[in-house]
Amino acid sequence: MLNFTFYNPVKIVFGKGQIATLPSLLTGRRNILLTYGGGSIKSNGVFSQVLEVLKDFKVAEFGGIEANPRYETLMKAVQICREQKIDFLLAVGGGSVIDGTKFIAAAAKFQGEEPWDILAKSAPVVEALPFGAVLTLSATGSEMNSFSVVSRTTPPAKLSFASGKVYPQFSILDPETTMSLPERQIINGIIDPFVHVTEQYLTKNVSTPLQDRQACAVLSTLVEIGPKVLTAPKNYDLRSNLMWCATQALNGVIGAGAVQDWATHQIGHELTSTFELDHAQTLAVILPALLKHQINNKREKLAQYGKWVWGLQGNDEVAIATQAIAKTEAFFRSLGAKTKLSEYGIKASDHAGVATRVMAVMKVPFGENRNIGLQEINAILAIAQA
Ligand code: NZQ
Ligand code: ZN
Repeated sequence: MLNFTFYNPVKIVFGKGQIATLPSLLTGRRNILLTYGGGSIKSNGVFSQVLEVLKDFKVAEFGGIEANPRYETLMKAVQICREQKIDFLLAVGGGSVIDGTKFIAAAAKFQGEEPWDILAKSAPVVEALPFGAVLTLSATGSEMNSFSVVSRTTPPAKLSFASGKVYPQFSILDPETTMSLPERQIINGIIDPFVHVTEQYLTKNVSTPLQDRQACAVLSTLVEIGPKVLTAPKNYDLRSNLMWCATQALNGVIGAGAVQDWATHQIGHELTSTFELDHAQTLAVILPALLKHQINNKREKLAQYGKWVWGLQGNDEVAIATQAIAKTEAFFRSLGAKTKLSEYGIKASDHAGVATRVMAVMKVPFGENRNIGLQEINAILAIAQA
């Protein structure tokens, strides 16, 4: 097992009706900025629920944070924080609103000239405004981690940062808030956590049998309940379990001490930036192709995954690994996700530009073996094409 430090201070308040606990979580806060997205919280009643329980607090609002939150938009909220001396941020929404709020929190206290440097130059986050979250779309795990992904319109870019200063102080996870999600976002909310687990698990064996089983527990649960949520979207227990799977998939537990990959995400971010695919849509296309390309390096873990999650049997590692990849792609398709670039109108002639832009961000080969460079990205995109 690799050395690791595990630290996760996020208080999770889970369950039906838990938005009512907000006042006790915000005791002593004087000047709150409520951040949200394009308006889903207004149509599903979450906004009015939050405002109702916060009627004794001073709450300013900042709406309009886009899916794949934009730097240009977030900087407007940073200005409000500075002008109005905001002392706490409350993010109400999905991963984009929470990620955007993490960036606002860091940028509002940033001492340098240009907060974009936090993303582009890994400028250190020394201080950040405290914040909490009310999650309405379970997928990213942002509610219980310290990562944030921010996009920029000009020049187009999608970059991430991580800092111990941007863990939410609390996250309220009420599965009922997710009942209004459209089918496309439910599918995204199954695939994103699935791939978060594979990024941390399908790498190489450094003797982490507990983490391997924890990873497979999340994957098997997603395989079991994912299709059921799509057929019974109003089922509270299914929603609860899906929500908790997504949080567990990226809160640091399963990846502790394990070798991690993240190449599917790096390539995927560029597809979102260039072609505006949803984050999880990019993952459903790239993961199967990347696993096929990297089968020799990943075959031991792939075979274990094939046996534990898909019940495959036999002694031929490569044969089981190959079947496990096919099962994964078939699972994504069974949910209604596309798994080929051509299905999104992306052409083979687009690959070179995508690969070049990924390398412009990454600068050096990446993946768990640091062996995914320009040529390999092109090869993976070629596998994902047809
Ligand atoms: O903007 P509103 O109107 O709220 O609508 C949103 C948005 O259009 C809608 N939605 C959210 N909750 C809803 C709802 N619609 C109906 N009912 C509800 N209860 O869903 C749409 C998508 O929302 P978004 O927040 O963008 O989705 P998601 O949670 O998948 O977040 C995606 C972003 O997170 C980043 C992605 O790259 C992407 O930018 N990620 C963040 C990670 C992290 N912080 O750890 C890790 C991930 O790998 C990922 O990169
Ligand atoms: Zn993701």
